Amino acid sequence: MAEDLLIAGTTKEEKYRELLPCLESLTSGETDLTANMANIAAALKQTFGFFWVGFYRLKEEMLVLGPFQGPVACTRIRYGKGVCGTAWQRAETLIVPDVNEFPGHIACNSRSRSEIVVPVFRKESIIGVLDIDSEHVNNFDATDAFYLQRICRLLAAS
Ligand code: SME
Repeated sequence: MAEDLLIAGTTKEEKYRELLPCLESLTSGETDLTANMANIAAALKQTFGFFWVGFYRLKEEMLVLGPFQGPVACTRIRYGKGVCGTAWQRAETLIVPDVNEFPGHIACNSRSRSEIVVPVFRKESIIGVLDIDSEHVNNFDATDAFYLQRICRLLAAS
């Protein structure tokens, strides 16, 4: 396995397009969910330099902090709470251009300004969410949603 991801693209779309096959090959030979979540979080952080990238896993009727890259974060999120708990409740990707405008946003770190949360499905059930925070307002769009959903689908098999 390569020591470093070599992503040459300059636009967001180019970077995601290069990253996707790398992640496919990284995760396809591994059945452990934690290992795959850890490598996906690291690859996204390394490629895009996001402020915080990580997974919350559904356990005991709560979202519990899983593999992540970035500053320490809150460990448990209830159904319907914050951006993560709302994405879980609605079973859909949420893009929050300005976290200060999202009622009930859970501020794990005051430097986070915008956020995207993508549910991770296994068959029809949600097993967790991918949460990414940016220090910049309005950092996420439909391109992020499209590719991050594809990346999360890689976890369904593991
Ligand atoms: N902001 C999230 C909490 C998790 S942290 O951003 C890592 C939320 O509102 O659910």
